Order: sequence, then structure tokens, then C-alpha cells
Amino acid sequence: MRTARWAMEVFVTRRIPAAGLRALSEAGGCTVQQWDSNEPVPRAELLAGVAGKQGLLCLLSDRIDKEVLDAAGSGLKVISTMSVGFDHLALHEIKKRGIRVGYTPDVLTDATAELSVALLLATCRRLPESVEEVKNGGWTTWKPLWMCGYGLSDSIVGILGLGRIGQAVARRLKPFGVKKFLYAGSHPKPEIAAEFQAEFVPITRLAEESDFIVVTCALTPETQGICNKDFFCRMKKNSVFINTSRGAVVNQEDLYNALVNGQIAAAGLDVTTPEPLPTDHPLLSLKNCVILPHIGSATYATRNTMSVLAANNLLAGLKGEPMPSELLL
Ligand code: GLV
Repeated sequence: MRTARWAMEVFVTRRIPAAGLRALSEAGGCTVQQWDSNEPVPRAELLAGVAGKQGLLCLLSDRIDKEVLDAAGSGLKVISTMSVGFDHLALHEIKKRGIRVGYTPDVLTDATAELSVALLLATCRRLPESVEEVKNGGWTTWKPLWMCGYGLSDSIVGILGLGRIGQAVARRLKPFGVKKFLYAGSHPKPEIAAEFQAEFVPITRLAEESDFIVVTCALTPETQGICNKDFFCRMKKNSVFINTSRGAVVNQEDLYNALVNGQIAAAGLDVTTPEPLPTDHPLLSLKNCVILPHIGSATYATRNTMSVLAANNLLAGLKGEPMPSELLL
């Protein structure tokens, strides 16, 4: 029998891949209480579940704010989120309490970049609309002017946020014959950008010159609502907008108007505000808007790896050891 040298209690806010849970249980010394459902934990259950725990393993859909931290009490040592994004965590409050935070960068970069490219192609070549036409009898014959879209060949691609995922997107798009990459962000990254001969430009120029814009930046106070009326008005009429970061980077009303008024050609969104997007949301009525349910990292392998990394971050934090991926506050 394994003898635990330490005894900690953790709360896991959702059903996660078995590999992640196994990592927690096999560690010994760690008692797991879990909201064992595919649906989000109700707020009251979260507040009750976290009470008195030393560790919390959460998802991007759990808002971890002052109320949750107060409910947890002063024993909470570690929060491990099974996501690369951390805008759902009240970092200021967390830091004040000396709680350590783990997250899951790198392991989801490939899957998310792949999904970004898939969404871009689905949007610019009108795949969902075309599939629908086959099903509803709209496909009557081969027509020279029907279902035309925009291709990547000889295009200018603008990346908003040339981080890990932005770079992986550029790497995948380059072989499609992209003529030039532009990027915007908080600062130039000449060494990284050299791989794509990408030019650092102000966001206004990114909007004005790109045929395709892919948003892969983190959601921060600086990027909140940055894709707004002014941004869309600067974009070319035949340009395509893709967002796989966070919905709140975009002012959705301004995007809706840009799509309806023909200010831009099309948009593909893997992220929205709110999530899920209500089924009667105006954006869902538009043929030139392709919306996915936040599935950037959704491959079996990636989600397994994310769950194990989240578990290992939590365990390391509980033991006071260096985490595999710690968010330094
Ligand atoms: C996905 O959006 C993530 O943050 O992991």
C-alpha cells in the first residue's frame, strides 16, 4: 500500500480525460472531489466544492474570482487550469493570496493552429454554405459564378498576436502561397518573425492591408474589444476575419454590422461572447459568418495531454515543487 507523505484535498470542476484524473489518483496523498459531469459546475456547487481545499483544477469556463477564493479559504495553495488562456482567473486576487497557478501552453499549439487554418479555409471557401446547398437542392448544375470565395495564394495575411499559436498558424499557411505576412502586437519580435519574413505593423495597417486577419492574441485589458468598428472599417471589402483567441477581443455588434454592410467579406469565429452563443444570436443568421463552439484544442490526444499537464501542475504546486508549466504572477 502506498503511504502518502503528504495529504491534500483537491476539487476538480468537471469530468476531464481519464488520463488526467489517473495522474492525480496515482500520485497518492491527494484526495479528489470532482464535479463529474460534462456540463459546467453550478456556481453554488463550485463554491461548496472548493471550500477547505488546497488545490483546484478548473477549466476556462469557470470564473475564478474573489468569491471563489474566499469560499476556498486560506488553505488554497494551487490553481491549475486546463487551458492556455487565463483570463477567467482573477490574477490580482490570486497573487495577493500567494496562490500558485498552472496552465497548459505548448501542448495545444498544434491542434489550435490546425483548427485556425481549417476555420480560415472553411470560411474563405464557403464550406458550410456549400454543404448546405448540396443538402437543400441549391446545387442545380456547375455554375461559373456560384460559391466563389477567396484563396490564400498571393495573399497578405495579418496575424494579430504572433505568440506560440500565431507562429504555428503562419508556419502552416506559408505553403499555401501567402505573399506576405504582417503582424501586430504589444512589441516587435524580429527573431521569431524572421522565419516568415513577417513585418511588424501598427494594428491600423494590419487591418488596412491584410486579405486575411487571424486573431491569436491573449485577452487582456489592452486587447479587449480591439477589433471594433474602426478596425473593421479599415479592412478591405474582400477580406476575411478569423478569431480563435477569445470572443471578447471582438466587438461583436461592430463585426455583425461589418458583415451585413459588406464592409468585410466573411468571418470565422471559434470563440464568441458569450459562450455558448445563444441560438437566436444575429451572427448565426449570416451566411458569411462561420461559428464553431470553441474547439481549437479539441483533438483526443491534445485534450488527454492537457489533462495530464494540468494534473502534474497541480501536484507539483501542492508539493511545493517547480511546476511543468507555471504562470508566473
Ligand atoms: C483554449 O481556449 C485555451 O485557453 O486553452
